[in-house]
Amino acid sequence: MVDVKKEIELVLKKYVDINNLYENITEIKDEVNGDYTFPCFMLSKELKKSPKDIADDLKEKIGNNDIFEKVESVNGYLNFFINKKYLTKIVFEEFDKTKEEYGKGSKKPETVLIEYSSPNIAKPFHIGHLRTTVIGHALYNIYKFLGYNTIGINHLGDYGTQFGKLIEGYKLWGNEYDIEKNPIDELVKMYVRINALCDEDEEVLERCRNNFKLLEQDDEYCVNLWKKFSKYSMEEFNRTYDMLNIKFDEIKGEASYVKDMNDIISTLEKNNKVTVSEGAKIVDLSDKNINTPCIIQKSNGSSIYATRDLAAIKYRANKYDFDKCLYVTGYEQDLHFKQVFAVASYLDLDKKYIAGLEHISYGMYRLKEGKMSTRKGNFVKVEDILNEAIEKAKSIILEKNPDIEDIDETAKKVGIGSVVFGDLYNSRIKDEVFDLDEMLNFQGETCPYIQYMYVRINSILHKVDGKVLLKDVNYDKLSNDLSYRLIKLIYNYKNVIEEAASKNEPYILSRYLIKLANTYSVFYANNKILSDDMDERNSYLYLINIVGNILKEGSKLLGIEMPNKM
Ligand code: ARG
Repeated sequence: MVDVKKEIELVLKKYVDINNLYENITEIKDEVNGDYTFPCFMLSKELKKSPKDIADDLKEKIGNNDIFEKVESVNGYLNFFINKKYLTKIVFEEFDKTKEEYGKGSKKPETVLIEYSSPNIAKPFHIGHLRTTVIGHALYNIYKFLGYNTIGINHLGDYGTQFGKLIEGYKLWGNEYDIEKNPIDELVKMYVRINALCDEDEEVLERCRNNFKLLEQDDEYCVNLWKKFSKYSMEEFNRTYDMLNIKFDEIKGEASYVKDMNDIISTLEKNNKVTVSEGAKIVDLSDKNINTPCIIQKSNGSSIYATRDLAAIKYRANKYDFDKCLYVTGYEQDLHFKQVFAVASYLDLDKKYIAGLEHISYGMYRLKEGKMSTRKGNFVKVEDILNEAIEKAKSIILEKNPDIEDIDETAKKVGIGSVVFGDLYNSRIKDEVFDLDEMLNFQGETCPYIQYMYVRINSILHKVDGKVLLKDVNYDKLSNDLSYRLIKLIYNYKNVIEEAASKNEPYILSRYLIKLANTYSVFYANNKILSDDMDERNSYLYLINIVGNILKEGSKLLGIEMPNKM
């Protein structure tokens, strides 16, 4: 698509000689002072003139031009009012070529790995995992849409001392729990019970530790049990992934990296980075301004979370030759990733890989009831949350529209979409209170609001059998303020997606979609779309068809589907 800023740069270039001209032309958001502005004070020193004189002079020189409706000199700024017809044409012609791919980037050579979700086997897929799953999935879609070679990775937590306990619990009471039917609930119950027993009885705890050792030594009985726990847990997680429409390019458990521990440690030892402290192997990171050393091997010789992460970095560098590797995990792990990335720089990997590592941190989600703890067994599963959202959506929709067809399909899209959108509506680092009622408020800045606008657009287009053609558009009919506001937003869609990717902030896209829906609703309230003036009607139809398309495709990037009716 034509880049309007670039066009302004071309015009200015004839008179202004600075090298970062493009970056200095910025968008104006207020609608009153034009569309773009260029500050002239940066030329003041060189030209030995006041910014105001420079702006006046440039305005004079530029004169009349097809691209601009007018150019104004205001307080040393040169403000450009883009010719409305010119911009509308750019946008409409681009849409005509690209349709649902409007805004999509061309194929890029860079590979971006996005590691997200990564729940723990035999533990609940809880609300913290909801955030990584939803944020990670949105980023995955966004990068992919922009043309990056994008790989989604689930770094499954299938390793840890808790398996020693679960094995012991299973030995003691295995027949009392129906793990096949209800894996996570039953395993958690068993885990809580064995933990209580361990608290009382040191001998049981010792047996648990021993089970874990046996597991590490590939003992057949222990490995088979572990496989069973993993298989059933994964089946349960997959139900949640199906609801959210998520697939991973790679699902690889932490356990698969245990065999690489010695290789990682020997590289670090060769580089003189390892010291022994109380029997454990650690890497001091004070050189890197990190006060807490990173433990890479426990005193009993077991591998540790960080070491498995280090092995994963090496594996990913070799396998994918990545340019970026993003870790979508809560801010409780800020220190962990700082340490891991710092230690990774001692692994003799190409610098490019180290530079590409990035922790995409996010804030905590709290249910209204307060913080959840797995150990005590009071947790809320994401699957249950999603089902509750669907039920709530269903009753709200039926109340408004009792005769609706496909209510289940619609309730699913609205219910799940609401939870996803609620998660993506603020900057990810903010702590949030999880409030389904707020997320499902049809009048709020919510998913149902966007879906409702989409459905309304659809129903208008339905009346004309979706017949909207560029050749029937009369651009003169679209130069009013309300149309132009929509057109500018449409023009900016791609920039918004690019910004969301560059900051790894899906909320930039969510907010944009709300703004687009909002702007549409004002447009709709003030214009008769199926106007008797056929030129006007066809032009409006073309415009709202684009709006509907962006609401749909933009939401899809976030992981949200549009219903046909609601
Ligand atoms: N399984 C971990 C958890 O549930 C998250 C894993 C994050 N990723 C990583 N590479 N350490 O907390």
